[in-house]
Amino acid sequence: MPALPNNTAAWTALENHAQDAQNLSIPHLFQVDPQRGDRLTAEGAGLYLDYSKNRVTDDTLTLLLDLARETGVEAKRAAMFAGEKINVTEGRAVLHTALRAPRDATVMVDGRNVVPDVHDVLDRMAAFAEQVRSGRWLGFTGKPLKNIVNIGIGGSDLGPVMAYEALRHYAQKGLTLRFVSNVDGTDLTEKTRDLDPAETLVIVSSKTFTTQETMANAQSARTWLLAALEDDAAVARHFVAVSTNAEAVQIFGIDPANMFGFWDWVGGRYSMDSAIGLSVMLAVGPDGFRELLAGFHDMDEHFRTAPLERNLPVLLGMLGIWYNNFHDAQSHAVLPYDQYLAYFPAYLQQLDMESNGKHITLDGQTVTYQTGPVIWGQPGTNGQHAFYQLIHQGTKLIPCDFIGFCQTLNPLPLGNGAPHHDLLMANVFAQTEALAFGKTLEQVLAEGVPADLAPHRVFDGNRPTNTILADRLTPRTLGALIALYEHKVFVQGAVWNINSFDQWGVELGKVLAGKIVPELHAESEPELKHDSSTNALIRRYRARR
Ligand code: F6P
Repeated sequence: MPALPNNTAAWTALENHAQDAQNLSIPHLFQVDPQRGDRLTAEGAGLYLDYSKNRVTDDTLTLLLDLARETGVEAKRAAMFAGEKINVTEGRAVLHTALRAPRDATVMVDGRNVVPDVHDVLDRMAAFAEQVRSGRWLGFTGKPLKNIVNIGIGGSDLGPVMAYEALRHYAQKGLTLRFVSNVDGTDLTEKTRDLDPAETLVIVSSKTFTTQETMANAQSARTWLLAALEDDAAVARHFVAVSTNAEAVQIFGIDPANMFGFWDWVGGRYSMDSAIGLSVMLAVGPDGFRELLAGFHDMDEHFRTAPLERNLPVLLGMLGIWYNNFHDAQSHAVLPYDQYLAYFPAYLQQLDMESNGKHITLDGQTVTYQTGPVIWGQPGTNGQHAFYQLIHQGTKLIPCDFIGFCQTLNPLPLGNGAPHHDLLMANVFAQTEALAFGKTLEQVLAEGVPADLAPHRVFDGNRPTNTILADRLTPRTLGALIALYEHKVFVQGAVWNINSFDQWGVELGKVLAGKIVPELHAESEPELKHDSSTNALIRRYRARR
């Protein structure tokens, strides 16, 4: 068993170093090392990372990488890529990396090379997608299908909707995609209100095919479809399923020929590059989807082979640990400066918080150190006009990742005299500069600000940021970016010695909801045996609904 992080020499050294580092300021670090902005950078899979605006010296970085080594990050990484059952609480391998392995690769699970299986499904998906996109797949009344409704939740929704929005520029025009996730009937109602069932394909996406929300939405979608098409046989032309549970798919009434499978070694939040991405493939086409997978694979290879000192996921992961475990930072903001990445923070919330929101170690002990942070954010520049005030001048330390692209997909020549994209990117650079370097009282007073107002106008600076730049948002860059965060989460979970691949924390609420459902719609007053708060809430709901 690798050492618990706080039993390592590196952890103790980092604690001591953190005491000294209290006086470390980013402006000072740049003063003593003017080349820092060129030096503390790394590149991989088409992504450029500038991590110079962090409260770190070369010693800090050495100690952080020592911590990674002492906690066995490299051995754990090897175990994951090799298909070992590192998801110990569920006895499963963790092989989302196999989903993007090239056709000639070999990845063994239980004595079987799974790569041919992966490519068989991809080929079936591609054949289906071509039929729908070309209008050759006809609905029950003979019309081509031009609306696609993905029904799923969590990993069966957030990845596809994020990637579809991110790649909208590349999506086939004339196809309308909708993503229904919430069991709130409003979601399905509003997303189908203007769609013609005769022209609509419904993809029911669920790894387990038992998830309450998805099953309810799928049933209601079927009712919606059959109300218009009035023949059960229509389901076969308008419903497909993506799942690991062939039996449940068949029981639901979807033809197994219209099912695209994946495997228990793919976690829900790591599944968007499996058949769960069918909606994305329908939008951007099989070639676009393969490019996305190639981007994931580029980052997998970078993560697997680059030295830790230049390894993007390792650097991001360990920098996060520096603030999380040695500076009491409670959260981490991800701020994409690209409207297409509007759903990226929401996607990362599940990826990171469902993975590392744990307090029990791999061997069943309660941790005595902090684990996963709260992840949040929204696209710049909107966030600037909402919550950046707190990041700049609040009392909380919030490390941030800024993500930007050198080329825009939508060049608008002039907004206020400069191209829109220059306006956008100027904000990326300005924000990280302002957060790092701030503005002193002397500077404020020198500007002629009255002494009583001056403290309000001071920016302390020394607020850490990473900047991730790519040339252009393409399917391939997107794949690399997603895999960067997947592996960052892996690195942190490995250091904290927790299982990043189960999610038992979501179970209790599911079970209790299952018990409460019949109590809500029982005809006669049910005998309620909850606490007094829950009982009273249920009674009030029953009385007033
Ligand atoms: O939220 C719990 C969870 O199990 C997620 O991990 C998963 O992505 C989501 O529910 C949906 O599960 P399924 O794909 O099985 O419907």
